[in-house]
Amino acid sequence: MELLVVCVALLFSGSGGAQETPYEDYMAQLKACPKECRCPPSFPNAVYCDNKGLKRIPVIPPYTWYLYLQNNLIDALSADALRNATQLKWLNLNRNKISNEGLEEGAFRALPNLVHLYMEDNQLTSVPSPLPSTLEQLRLSRNRISKIPVKVFAGLGRLNLLDLQGNKLQDDAVTEVSLKGLNGLVQINLAKNQLSSMPPGLPPTTAQLFLDGNNIEKIPAGYFKGLPKVSFLRLNHNKLANGGLPRNVFNLSNILDLQLSHNKLTEVPFIPPGLEHLHLDHNKIKTVNGTEICPVSASSLAHYFEENGPRLRYLRLDGNEVKPPIPWDLMLCFRHLRAVVI
Ligand SMILES: *[C@@H]1O[C@H](CO)[C@@H](O)[C@H](O)[C@H]1NC(C)=O
Ligand SMILES: *[C@@H]1O[C@H](CO)[C@@H](O)[C@H](O)[C@H]1NC(C)=O
Ligand SMILES: *[C@@H]1O[C@H](CO)[C@@H](O)[C@H](O)[C@H]1NC(C)=O
Repeated sequence: MELLVVCVALLFSGSGGAQETPYEDYMAQLKACPKECRCPPSFPNAVYCDNKGLKRIPVIPPYTWYLYLQNNLIDALSADALRNATQLKWLNLNRNKISNEGLEEGAFRALPNLVHLYMEDNQLTSVPSPLPSTLEQLRLSRNRISKIPVKVFAGLGRLNLLDLQGNKLQDDAVTEVSLKGLNGLVQINLAKNQLSSMPPGLPPTTAQLFLDGNNIEKIPAGYFKGLPKVSFLRLNHNKLANGGLPRNVFNLSNILDLQLSHNKLTEVPFIPPGLEHLHLDHNKIKTVNGTEICPVSASSLAHYFEENGPRLRYLRLDGNEVKPPIPWDLMLCFRHLRAVVI
């Protein structure tokens, strides 16, 4: 729609006039589409430079909001490269060869409007810094990141998604200090790193915590005290045994989805009343006693209407030592159960 208005205005402004109008400026910018890239007229603010074998960032026109540079061979980002692209909201640099050495200090400083920064599958060893305070999503999965610089997230109160999966983070890198400033965080993905403890200092806004594929053996009692919003918790492929899980540690009022597949559990942990999906497959669970794992007592259960009872709908128990049939007291307690994989 915007482009249409521009074209009409240009027709009526006449050609050959000496004075520059904003519209002519705009059209000049359109024509300034880098020769390596595509700038479809239907998306006048998007510049597509993906899959071109580029080694350097082309000269990006100033009007650009969306810049797609994924799947190239770019190994460096100078502070100058995006200097004129001050309107940039969305920068996709996935699948390039950018290392921290190739990233000039302040490369993102000229981007006061950047909302999404994607740098998956590069060669970063540290979270890039400084980052624009406008960021809402930062995707850095599958790099070689082992360091989170102190205060890198200070002032990033709008960041709601931080994806660091598939890196080399150890416990000493993920600390209360290094995560400070993430006051609006909703989802944090630390899967497939080298953590042996639960990350400390997560903000109370955290709703989705993904920690699959680490070496976590235990969850400290009270770990979730400061995390009342957690609703999706994934800890598949860790080393959790029942000794490492304080009783009722998962008694979280907002939890909906709990995944503990491929651990070392020998017993079913406490099932919070609001939980809807529970993955316990591929552990070492031998028996399931529906009466014992029922989050409400049998006597009060009789008084529950189906709507008020425990919410569990989906339960996976395959890959354990539990044999069918499904215990009748399990069905009695969890009346919303629609599928049990045993
Ligand atoms: C930025 O814009 C200036 C003025 O139009 C131009 O001379 C310069 O080459 C541009 N730089 C980049 C990196 O696009
Ligand atoms: C779970 O937490 C609620 C409050 O959030 C509490 O009332 C209840 O007793 C707890 N249940 C267990 C079994 O710890
Ligand atoms: C399950 O546990 C309850 C209470 O501890 C017990 O009374 C019951 O016999 C157990 N059920 C089975 C099948 O072992």
